[in-house]
Amino acid sequence: MRTVLIANPKGGSGKTTVATNLAGYFATRGRRVILSDLDRQQSAMQWLQRRPYKLPLIRPGDDRKSKTSKDVEWMIIDSPAGLRGDKLSDAIKQADWVIVPVQPSAFDIGATRDFLELLREEKAIRKQRAFVAMAGVRVDPRTRTAASLQSFMESTGLPILTYLREAQVYRLAAEQGASLFDIRPSLVARDLQQWAPLLHWLVNAD
Ligand SMILES: Nc1ncnc2c1ncn2[C@@H]1O[C@H](COP(=O)(O)OP(=O)(O)OP(=O)(O)O)[C@@H](O)[C@H]1O
Ligand SMILES: [Mg+2]
Repeated sequence: MRTVLIANPKGGSGKTTVATNLAGYFATRGRRVILSDLDRQQSAMQWLQRRPYKLPLIRPGDDRKSKTSKDVEWMIIDSPAGLRGDKLSDAIKQADWVIVPVQPSAFDIGATRDFLELLREEKAIRKQRAFVAMAGVRVDPRTRTAASLQSFMESTGLPILTYLREAQVYRLAAEQGASLFDIRPSLVARDLQQWAPLLHWLVNAD
């Protein structure tokens, strides 16, 4: 089983959006996938409850049987705002990869910079048992804040997986328990293109 943790202690940075869409991707590819939710708000689990039966199956992480099941191929972990300390360490210990979503805003960049410092001190990261990468979220490339985000991300030296644009389809999909990968591709062609390098990184990283 390969485990991807989505983490950024800044609230509203796009963690649940990335986590649910990633789980949706593996499900549509016929992979056995678990979506685990460490957030007391349980947004990812509520999304899963809204998910129509006819869409490809994603199993919930609180299902003990599915978590220990040997046939699980991917586990996607959504995490809460404010994650730090032992809870952060425990989550990272489980992960092969940590994806940090960041929005183009000075507040988000500041909080993320501090978080990356914490991550670098984590043993699992130092020993290269887990790898960290970044993803820009809700990015409009024509804006100055997008340029600031890009220079911040480049300054970290971490892999930059993608910049996802702001699009209403993310909110619509969230409402329907769907991912972008469950929607007719012609309607989300540009967004799927933006996901491609992130997916490529994960699938080819091991
Ligand atoms: N690319 C996008 N385009 C449009 N809306 C988006 C996009 N990404 C995220 N959102 C919206 O932004 C809001 C915050 O995103 P999300 O809930 O994924 O963040 P979060 O990091 O999980 O928040 P929290 O810290 O509260 O758990 C949500 O309403 C979500 O639908
Ligand atoms: Mg969330």
